[in-house]
Amino acid sequence: MTDDALVIFTPSGKRGRFALGTPVLTAARQLGVDLDSVCGGRGICSRCQITPGHGEFPKHGVTVTADALSPWNAVEERYKSKRGLQSGRRLGCQAKVMGDVVIDVPPESQVHKQVIRKSATARAVVMDPATRLLYLEVAEPDMEHPSGDFERLSAALQEQWQVEGVEADLAILRRLQPALRKGEWKVTVALHQGHRDAQPRILDLWPGFHDGGLYGLAIDLGSTTIAAHLCDLRDGAVLASAGLMNPQIRFGEDLMSRVSYAMMNPGGDVEMTAAVRAAINGLALAVAAEAGVDAGAIYEIVFVGNPVMHHLLLGIDPVELGQAPFALAFNSSISLNARDLDLPAVNRAARVYILPLIAGHVGADCAAVALAEEPDKSKDMVLIVDVGTNAEILLGNHSRVLACSSPTGPAFEGAQISSGQRAAPGAIERVEIDPATKEPRFKVIGCDLWSDDPGFAAATAVTGITGICGSGIIEAVAEMRMAGLVDPGGLMGSAEQTGTARMIPEGRTHSYLLHDGSADGGPRILVTQGDIRAIQLAKSALYAGARLLMDEMGIDTVDRIVLAGAFGAHISPKHAMVLGMIPDAPLDHVFSAGNAAGTGARIALCSRAARAAIEATVHQIHKVETAIEPRFQEHFIAANAIPHATAPFPELAKIVTLPDVSFNTRGSDGGGAGGRRHRRG
Ligand code: FES
Repeated sequence: MTDDALVIFTPSGKRGRFALGTPVLTAARQLGVDLDSVCGGRGICSRCQITPGHGEFPKHGVTVTADALSPWNAVEERYKSKRGLQSGRRLGCQAKVMGDVVIDVPPESQVHKQVIRKSATARAVVMDPATRLLYLEVAEPDMEHPSGDFERLSAALQEQWQVEGVEADLAILRRLQPALRKGEWKVTVALHQGHRDAQPRILDLWPGFHDGGLYGLAIDLGSTTIAAHLCDLRDGAVLASAGLMNPQIRFGEDLMSRVSYAMMNPGGDVEMTAAVRAAINGLALAVAAEAGVDAGAIYEIVFVGNPVMHHLLLGIDPVELGQAPFALAFNSSISLNARDLDLPAVNRAARVYILPLIAGHVGADCAAVALAEEPDKSKDMVLIVDVGTNAEILLGNHSRVLACSSPTGPAFEGAQISSGQRAAPGAIERVEIDPATKEPRFKVIGCDLWSDDPGFAAATAVTGITGICGSGIIEAVAEMRMAGLVDPGGLMGSAEQTGTARMIPEGRTHSYLLHDGSADGGPRILVTQGDIRAIQLAKSALYAGARLLMDEMGIDTVDRIVLAGAFGAHISPKHAMVLGMIPDAPLDHVFSAGNAAGTGARIALCSRAARAAIEATVHQIHKVETAIEPRFQEHFIAANAIPHATAPFPELAKIVTLPDVSFNTRGSDGGGAGGRRHRRG
């Protein structure tokens, strides 16, 4: 009989021989198998659960007998009776190797488990958060060998967790002695070490074993909308998401008006900084309340945003971003304390990480989109558009990536639209118009039924039908074009010209009545000529930005298009193409990716490796400045028509025949969208 045994771990396949009596957790650590532990093998945390196999394993060439592990022990029994343990599971720190054995590590016992499956690809993100909980036993003070409590805690961290050179601020040092004594020399610490930090730091500590929550916020700070996801830092799960309008809108709807506000009003930047920080605090409290957790257990925040939002969040006057050469105060990533941003809602020691900016007008939100969608790893030529008040556009493949931002204005987020609203319950998000009868049907956020389905009125009684959000207005305008209610120039027809009484005259123009809730005290939801013009401006800017990057790349078509946006709903590829928001492409090569910037922020929250990776990637991305590029204006004007004045759309023509209508015989509404100057938004 040998005095060692073969241990094989699945799914990693790692294997090695260990002396009989070696705890499974020890074997796992020595082989570098990913098996979790907060309590360091003391039978308290249950993170080390494993499933031992029995019988023949021909693939591995072993037979596992029933006594391959030491018998079930009292610690496991106590844990099972108090907290429960699935049948077949053992605690890896208690079960000892007594013979050849095959051991499965279930996903929930892996520290570096894969999370955040991305929509367009099958890649998963591996958990590697900067903050984790560690339980330790600290030596008691000894008059023979005098030393401070912190020094003994530091030695325990080194010995029990191989963590060296830990730091703690004064607030933690003040709490250390009572915590150690209350916990009888056992404490749990929340330890943070960012990917660039030379030394780890203690963010929080508790007497004894503590297995409370450890949460992080991923925030996409947009010009119009602020979106936040509350994530569990242990497994990356999204516990709650919420969004609100950026309160800076009262200082100006688009980015340049906010920069102007800062230029014209002494202290204007300080006002805008205070407004956005207060909103973020409120949002942190709201998402924590929605998830039923304490906002004080939020230990990390990752922000992404365009350069103006980024600078204002940090309290940096954005005036330099209002004029060429659009100099950023700095463009690297930054890590700092949440308290430096006046965010008292979260833990007082919480850390903030902000992704790097790409350059000039291309911000950390674009970097986050690149992190989520990885154009730099794409084999085919991919165009990624992140639709917002300022669209972030990336084009490229594994050999070269270009980026620009395009001033679309807030129409795609439901602002500057007569019945527009933020994506929230009650907002119309999907629209269909029957080309024969011109009658609409629609869906609202919060209800799966179409408006002509039985039960729709009852299902929407609570939320009401309150307005149209970004994806809804995109579909409404595209459907109106497909139904012959709007001509290629964007002009709406009259009731006689279109054959529907839903076209209502308003001065010299017409509006389409999408929904009339006035009989029940609700709103009349119309799509006006002004709404169509706002959408034309926005989509022309988006198309022009994409086209500019294609010119720079020297191509006329792309292989794949990814449509992203901070909307509640996904953008319909077909409707985006009918509008001419994006270049022509086979419809099955156009994908909707939801909030890619938000996903990028979540990835950075969960993974230090991802932070390091995007910091390297942004240096490879070549930035194109739309504001000083004369071809941008040419592309913008040509893109004003629906779908486009000059570019052919052969792929679109295969799936949709757009009616050949013209409503320009009875005057116009003042020159169309192409006559108005676009501005960076
Ligand atoms: S490591 Fe904590 S219970 Fe096993």
